Amino acid sequence: MDVFEAVDSRKSCRAFLDKPVDGATVRELIGRATRAASGGNLQPWSVYAFTGAPLAELVRTVLAAVDTVDPRGLNGEFPVYPEPLFEPFRSRRFENGVGLYRALGVARGDDAGRLAQYKQNYAFFGAPVGLFLALDRRCGPGQWTDVGGFLATLMLLARGYGLATCAQESWARIAAIVTPLIGLPDTEMLFCGIALGHADAAAPVNRFRTARAGVDEICRFVGFETA
Ligand SMILES: Cc1cc2nc3c(=O)[nH]c(=O)nc-3n(C[C@H](O)[C@H](O)[C@H](O)COP(=O)(O)O)c2cc1C
Repeated sequence: MDVFEAVDSRKSCRAFLDKPVDGATVRELIGRATRAASGGNLQPWSVYAFTGAPLAELVRTVLAAVDTVDPRGLNGEFPVYPEPLFEPFRSRRFENGVGLYRALGVARGDDAGRLAQYKQNYAFFGAPVGLFLALDRRCGPGQWTDVGGFLATLMLLARGYGLATCAQESWARIAAIVTPLIGLPDTEMLFCGIALGHADAAAPVNRFRTARAGVDEICRFVGFETA
């Protein structure tokens, strides 16, 4: 698979096959992702990888803990979005939600259905591997950006193994619950989870493809004769 195909085919997967990914592959994937660039080559990321019985136990504990909680409004370690969210981001987020819940057949007014789907984040959408991405609390915006670069690199590399992913900031919302289960030291902050496995191509939720703003909306070209 070439780099263009990896980028074109990567999308957030929210339903996985019950098919394991072996540890050697996960190790190789994470090792390759460490080739991601970082300012000053700080490599400020750390990864916690779960599978099998420990993953099942973690998921079971977390789902029980959020049973009577609505995690969508929790800030956890950090506000996931600016509050209040402003344009054009507000509309983009709204359209993303509309498309996702339409694919799932969850009606606009069905808040219980939406909440139930949201909580599937805490089962890693059934993925056989759950990764947690963290960084030292003393790090600043530069290192946060680096961790984002690592995340993107890992998700694209996963395509090379025929694997699918979903980045999940929803885990940071419940950091107080999940941090002790991961064994994260107090010095580290949880940034996100990553569901990793084989996509269930037949699942309706995986047929949803998100839109993007056009190049002219996000880039001002200066000095080019054509662009
Ligand atoms: C840092 C980050 C955190 C995300 N957190 C979640 C999440 O908690 N749950 C979820 O279902 N999707 C999550 N997503 C997926 C985004 O919603 C998705 O990337 C976006 O809608 C674009 O769709 P695509 O990934 O299919 O191209 C996250 C993505 C990123 C990059």
